[in-house]
Amino acid sequence: MATALVLGWLGLACPAFAGPVDRQADALRAGGDLHVQRRFAWDMAAAALPAFEAWPGEGAAFAPAGSRPGPTGIRGFDRAPSARAATETALAPVIAYTLYNAAAFEHLRRYRLYSRPELDHMRATATSIPDFPRGSAILKSVWWPIAGDRPTAMPVWDPDANPPRALGNPYVGWPRVVAVVPPAGRSAPVRLAFAGRTISGARRIDLAALYHVRLDDGLARRIMGDAESAKVAWMVLGRPLRAGDQLALVGANLAAREAEDWVWAALWWHDRPDEGPFAADRPDGLRGVWRNYLMQTAFDPRTPTEADGAPHVAFNPWLEARFPDDGQGGGVVSNCLSCHLRASYPPSGFLPVTRGPPDAQADPALASGKLRTGLVWSVPLHARP
Ligand code: HEC
Repeated sequence: MATALVLGWLGLACPAFAGPVDRQADALRAGGDLHVQRRFAWDMAAAALPAFEAWPGEGAAFAPAGSRPGPTGIRGFDRAPSARAATETALAPVIAYTLYNAAAFEHLRRYRLYSRPELDHMRATATSIPDFPRGSAILKSVWWPIAGDRPTAMPVWDPDANPPRALGNPYVGWPRVVAVVPPAGRSAPVRLAFAGRTISGARRIDLAALYHVRLDDGLARRIMGDAESAKVAWMVLGRPLRAGDQLALVGANLAAREAEDWVWAALWWHDRPDEGPFAADRPDGLRGVWRNYLMQTAFDPRTPTEADGAPHVAFNPWLEARFPDDGQGGGVVSNCLSCHLRASYPPSGFLPVTRGPPDAQADPALASGKLRTGLVWSVPLHARP
């Protein structure tokens, strides 16, 4: 199965591959066995990490017709000013960048899903955009800035130390912070301050324990040109990013159209990656630095239910944990599918967090006249006027 995934995502699969793979993931959803689902999701992650470095990013995906694609992966970071949902920035800014594999990218471009006039046109005659092809995969990557020459504070999500909070659990409030040490900062003293706290006794983590990318001048400038990302740099480093700094991959949200409603997986880095339920079922196929990431998955907005019978939970500490509780629970009890099934154009708010399947009758996101965008939120949010 992992082989079929890899081949599919490279665009090499013969059509015969698609059938069995699809049916398998849809059957796993119906089966509701979390460990079996986790094994599938881990294989999916193994196929995407680090293949995503060769995928075009949101800049190219939502560029005007005729644009020439730039570099792939995070090195291609390219964002028009204010192209981001302001709600997210207000909750806790992150350096996030979304990458689309060849199948997903070509679909976006072929049907001009980057264009609001095109979406308006579709909306007049259809209730949904053309289906993304099986084998499509999209990865939203989250990066933490690390100074090139000294240890840098980085929060770590420990579930037990982060009980749900009504205002959300943004990373500024996570109790534990580690010191990430770049090669050139090994002899520098560890003097850490973060989010108004002076941190002493932080565990030292070699940068090599995280997947990371060194910034050159051009990339540092492009990232600083994005208001949300610039906020992160000022907060963490107290200065703009510059050549020689590093970006460490702290989290990623992955969706792959291996099933009708895609298969969803959240990955995030941890310094004790072999402990707890989010380490379970990790396959041997994941190697090196990728073994330092934890994972949770969603195949369905409700199942398999939690121990108390509540709908299944799957969230990324870096992305969804910050969402506040406005009645149905905050981001730490959210589920990828509960929210992504609501993706439609023109966009309704993606907050507050809802649980279980969306209410087809009462949810404004699914009202008549809306164009459903194949569970992909960036289409309604980032299509250009
Ligand atoms: C409460 C709503 C919500 C929840 C829950 C949520 N997301 Fe998203 N997600 C969004 C929004 C909104 C965007 C677009 C953000 C942007 O690019 O500005 C997005 C973007 C993405 C993307 C890029 C493709 C796209 O849809 O634009 C992926 C992949 C993704 N999310 C995966 C996940 C995964 C995996 C989970 C669960 C672990 C998850 N999401 C949970 C709202 C949500």
